[in-house]
Amino acid sequence: MTEIVVRWSEPLPALDRYLELLDELERGRYDAYRLEIDQRRFLTGRMLAKTLVAERLGRPVESVRLDATCEDCGKPHGRPRVPDSDLVLSISHSGNLIGLAVAEGVPVGLDVETANRNADASLVDYALSPAEREAVAGLSDEARSAAFFIYWTRKEAVMKATGKGLKIPLRSITFSRYDAPAELVSSSDEALDPARTRLADLKAADGHRAAVAALTAEPLSVTEEHWLP
Ligand SMILES: CC(C)(COP(=O)(O)OP(=O)(O)OC[C@H]1O[C@@H](n2cnc3c(N)ncnc32)[C@H](O)[C@@H]1OP(=O)(O)O)[C@@H](O)C(=O)NCCC(=O)NCCS
Repeated sequence: MTEIVVRWSEPLPALDRYLELLDELERGRYDAYRLEIDQRRFLTGRMLAKTLVAERLGRPVESVRLDATCEDCGKPHGRPRVPDSDLVLSISHSGNLIGLAVAEGVPVGLDVETANRNADASLVDYALSPAEREAVAGLSDEARSAAFFIYWTRKEAVMKATGKGLKIPLRSITFSRYDAPAELVSSSDEALDPARTRLADLKAADGHRAAVAALTAEPLSVTEEHWLP
């Protein structure tokens, strides 16, 4: 069994006691966001990550450093790693929800999306595989949008677990039906092997959809928590 904890938070206020926990590179990223809400989402992701890592490693939060060097370009905007530890993290933010997934020794990916958007025909064509398009055909606009975002969060979660992000063509992977337990049925990208990919749809919070994925053959045990700092 692979244990995954997903911890959710609303955007934190930009208090000095949080800002002081950012290192120089993180502070640079924080300052570069033009919108205050984007700054707060970024800050909240870092606070979720640093406090959970501090708890797991039994260390003061001030001593926790994350390395977010991008595997593609070297800039500090990649997925955060915990140096000298087998903890694996994934951060996602959308609307009023920021999430952190943590696993041990297993690549993990989390995605959350606000669920109040409409999925029109062009978005469905762009992102869903033929089998998935068939599953949503004939649904009302509202039901199709809800089903679409279940598929979408599953897709982003597995892609984030691989670290390749959206470089894997969305239509090249097929999941179980939106109303069935989440499983990767097939993938034409070699980074994703259905026998070694597990995922779960999450409860998240009202108005949001979310999924978490891990690259493992073992079943997942997922615990969702709402964080109050
Ligand atoms: C990773 C990616 C899927 C994010 O999707 P999104 O829906 O816009 O945003 P989310 O809120 O769900 O996720 C953002 C988080 O993903 C993480 N992340 C960044 N790159 C990642 C990657 N390659 N794989 C997994 N996670 C990644 C970060 O923690 C980021 O949050 P942070 O910046 O606050 O730390 C998307 O940015 C992507 O496809 N990146 C691919 C790599 C890329 O294009 N690099 C270009 C720059 S060289």
